[in-house]
Amino acid sequence: MYLTSEEEKTLDGEYGRSLQKAMEILVALGDIYGAERLIPVKSAQIAGVSYKTIGDAGLEWISDLEGKVKIPSVLNPAGMDIVRWEEMGVEPDFAKKQQEIIEAYAKLGIRTKCTCTPYYLEGFDVKLDDHVAWSESSAVSYANSVIGARTNREGGPSALSAALVGKTANYGYHLDEMREPVVAVEVDCKLSGSDFGALGYVAGKEIGSRVPIFYMKNKPSKNEMKSLGAALAASGAVALYHIEGVTPEAVRNKFTRPDEGIPVERTQIDEVYETNKDILSSEIITVGCPHCSVEELEEIAGLVEGKKLQKEIWVCTAREVAEKNPDLVQRIEKSGAKVVCDTCMVVSPATNRYASMTVNSGKAFAYVPSMCKVAAKYASIEDCIKEAGVIDEN
Ligand code: F3S
Repeated sequence: MYLTSEEEKTLDGEYGRSLQKAMEILVALGDIYGAERLIPVKSAQIAGVSYKTIGDAGLEWISDLEGKVKIPSVLNPAGMDIVRWEEMGVEPDFAKKQQEIIEAYAKLGIRTKCTCTPYYLEGFDVKLDDHVAWSESSAVSYANSVIGARTNREGGPSALSAALVGKTANYGYHLDEMREPVVAVEVDCKLSGSDFGALGYVAGKEIGSRVPIFYMKNKPSKNEMKSLGAALAASGAVALYHIEGVTPEAVRNKFTRPDEGIPVERTQIDEVYETNKDILSSEIITVGCPHCSVEELEEIAGLVEGKKLQKEIWVCTAREVAEKNPDLVQRIEKSGAKVVCDTCMVVSPATNRYASMTVNSGKAFAYVPSMCKVAAKYASIEDCIKEAGVIDEN
């Protein structure tokens, strides 16, 4: 891979061991994937934050690094709400380690807002054709598909390296030719709300890691596309999808319809809702995977107005979104639900103590049984609230 003289100096260690290590990772990836050069990236989103997933080895690796990131950089969800971890039922030993991880990242100049929705944060406004280095799979999908920006699905170390160097290797989804759809997904019915997460859950298994283009009977909202992309990335490994006439590159590029087609019927979507429906009474209900937008918080606040919820219910969102909307948080929490920041139902160890969970996210539906060993069922947001055991106060 071609390197500028400054990049060569970084690789030779002239700017310190941490930058050298970061450059070694970028160059190794570039060589493996045939990149010709490094390109600047506008921001980084770094996975590998929950102590549950990275453990002591990860903490040690981050703690050894020195210097400051060169671009706006933010963290993926941690294993707990950094402020209200005790209320979540997180153990003090875990909390101590989690704080150490966050402090180690903060020392590098990384913003310690832990979220999988960096596109809702100030300073992370990404536009069509911008290059970024993001890691969390739903954030990657949103950047590539809904915004039309360009990122590979970075691992924690490679996103951190990109943050320190301010560049990434130019391969994969940074290149035009890798962004063409190769399979058509034909949806035979109109969908709304959580149907899109169910669609992603069903279609992701068939698509694998390819780039699909969806042909839909109706246009999804951005929140619905967020759910679709998260589920596609979890049940498959889709990092970029297009929707005919909707997503920015599909509109601009007018792609030729791929020869291979995957039909999806209403019955397949319904099967997702039916799984475990009658056999599971959930001990906890979690929504906000990916983290809730302001509109989603508004919808939930409207649904729980005047109600008391009997079961544990988490509404996960980014701390910055919660802090900017204290009225919404208050309205939701009045019902007994908890607005949980910095973390989620999958990466926090606090959900492991429950036997069963209801979710409205295709991604959570795919991961909660495997990563938390908790049985899951899938429901619309309205049915999630009902499952929480509503007492009407009106
Ligand atoms: Fe985000 Fe956690 Fe879901 S990281 S996408 S809320 S599994």
